[in-house]
Amino acid sequence: MGESMTGFKRSHMCCNVDEGMIGQQVTLMGWVQKRRDLGKLIFIALRDKTGIVQIVINGNDADAVIFDKAQTIRSEYVLAVRGTVQLRAEENINVSMKTGRIEVIAEDLRILSEAETPPFQIEDNITVKDDLRLKYRYLDLRRPSQLHNIMLRHEVVQKMRAFLNQEGFLEIETPILMKSTPEGARDYLVPSRVHPGNFYALPQSPQLFKQILMVSGMDRYYQIAKCFRDEDLRADRQPEFTQVDMELSFVDEEDIMDINERMMKKVFWELLNVEITLPIPRMTYQEAMERFGSDKPDIRFGMELVNISDVVSGTDFAVFKGALEQGGSVRAINAKGCGNFPRKQIDSLVEFVKTYRAKGLAWISIQPDGSIKSQIAKFFSEETMQAIIDKMQGEPGDLILICADKDKVVFDSLGALRVELSKRLELTNPKDYKFLWVTEFPMLEWDEEENRYVAVHHPFTAPMDEDLELLETDPGKVRAKAYDIVLNGYELGGGSIRIHRRDIQQKMFELLGFAPEDAQERFGYLLDAFQYGVPPHGGLAFGLDRIVMLMTGASSIRDVIAFPKVKDASCPMSGAPNIVDQKQLDELCIAIQEIAETPSEEA
Ligand code: AMO
Ligand code: AMP
Repeated sequence: MGESMTGFKRSHMCCNVDEGMIGQQVTLMGWVQKRRDLGKLIFIALRDKTGIVQIVINGNDADAVIFDKAQTIRSEYVLAVRGTVQLRAEENINVSMKTGRIEVIAEDLRILSEAETPPFQIEDNITVKDDLRLKYRYLDLRRPSQLHNIMLRHEVVQKMRAFLNQEGFLEIETPILMKSTPEGARDYLVPSRVHPGNFYALPQSPQLFKQILMVSGMDRYYQIAKCFRDEDLRADRQPEFTQVDMELSFVDEEDIMDINERMMKKVFWELLNVEITLPIPRMTYQEAMERFGSDKPDIRFGMELVNISDVVSGTDFAVFKGALEQGGSVRAINAKGCGNFPRKQIDSLVEFVKTYRAKGLAWISIQPDGSIKSQIAKFFSEETMQAIIDKMQGEPGDLILICADKDKVVFDSLGALRVELSKRLELTNPKDYKFLWVTEFPMLEWDEEENRYVAVHHPFTAPMDEDLELLETDPGKVRAKAYDIVLNGYELGGGSIRIHRRDIQQKMFELLGFAPEDAQERFGYLLDAFQYGVPPHGGLAFGLDRIVMLMTGASSIRDVIAFPKVKDASCPMSGAPNIVDQKQLDELCIAIQEIAETPSEEA
């Protein structure tokens, strides 16, 4: 039930009413945040997307009908109010509110819509389960923090568009229904009715199309592109997400990095007033792994990894010896000031690294008096223990944490441990933005399960010129012209210079284990296009959701997406995915084999 708006025309948004308008009549519309009754006075906090303004209904002045109506108003009712702006009495001024010096004395009032009691309060800092919030996402989005995130997201997109337009890019849409190219993440498939038994795939990224646009001579392309990847969800990963995707012709890595860092600088300055010093520092993949155990290092704090293999190389301690004999390494971090961690807390760190496949974590705790507590002391001479401590620059009060294994396990474990400790010790400030380019990624990575090389970035990424010869002799060592832009431990974006030489592309497919007809079947349309004059080109794609997450300080990209999915990739609000009518299935010639009772849990 609700009254009509006829005769009411909104004159201002709630927070656009100010002290300069005293005595002026305004018409406002919005939701009721709260109603307070004080005998003959009723106060209503009226809210729209700009914020809240106070409405006063004075039982002595207003006509009785309006006053009676006002008494029925409850939270989240939708109102239209006509009234006069007045200065608040001195004692009622609320400086924490944008409209805290004024109020609107209601002369006429309509209830446009009534509302049930919402399942949670429409305000920030509420403790509600995420699933409930997302089931009622339309109410959740009324909360100021969520509204702010969506508004900031809008502005980020506008700033980026404006910047790229200025730089001569064309915004071009690429297909959503496209050909499946099983490589990378799992595809979302869409059955074709017209071609029974055939499927489209939703794009994991516009990669092939944007490269073909370069062949078409579009020169510079961008797109705010929806991408779909059927992979496990995490705080920074959704099955559908948005890329700010671009591709440029006749450029090298420097050109692409230059444009993108200037774009980031502009966005952060204009929207957050945060100054990013250019050029953004760069680090090779190798250095990032050695120093931080990660290809997306958070460089806001130290606690760097140190290779102590040489110091312990002569040891008989089976764990270290074994790791070194198998070509692995022994590395450590110094958790400064953590020497007083109780045993229980150290044990929890040992458990933590096990999730990264470490078999254990050795530790040396340096007591305030300089004496040492360590469960591995018995395996080492005093000199060796001292040599480890010296190499780690250990001081009284420090805790040295050591991992021995294959490099990959050591890097993953200590890299993650370093980040975990920074959280426990609150070493970082989310408002401190430290960008980093990570360059010279390996081109290929050996996949134990598939027993073949897979592309680290994608099969179209060019090898570094210096490493071309290694393609024949030692492909695992070839570095790629690929770069990631990293912010505070998150991969914000990534890209590469592409292969535009047919012979190198063929070699790449060969290394990935695709027979020529295989490659033709999957990527033929790109290879065909490349026969008709292809400019050297390259590009990059940002994860828009991740940029906005870090800019807002949100802890998950869910909080910056209007209608996100939850852990099992479902939408609690709409109920997607759902079972469809038999008729729809019949049209698509699809028979359902069996339906699992519950969707599988994230691994
Ligand atoms: P890439 O696969 O690295 O590159 O993706 C680019 C960026 O997209 C974001 N991203 C995601 N964000 C949220 N949820 C996900 N599931 C997800 N997956 C990726 C990340 C990532 O850095 N076509 C290439 C780009 C290129 O080479 O030009 C590509 O898609 O922030
Ligand atoms: P163990 O001889 O297996 O009892 O191990 C002795 C100590 O070495 C234990 O405290 C383990 O946590 C630690 N340790 C075991 N495996 C590793 C490893 N791969 N790297 C570092 N420390 C380890």
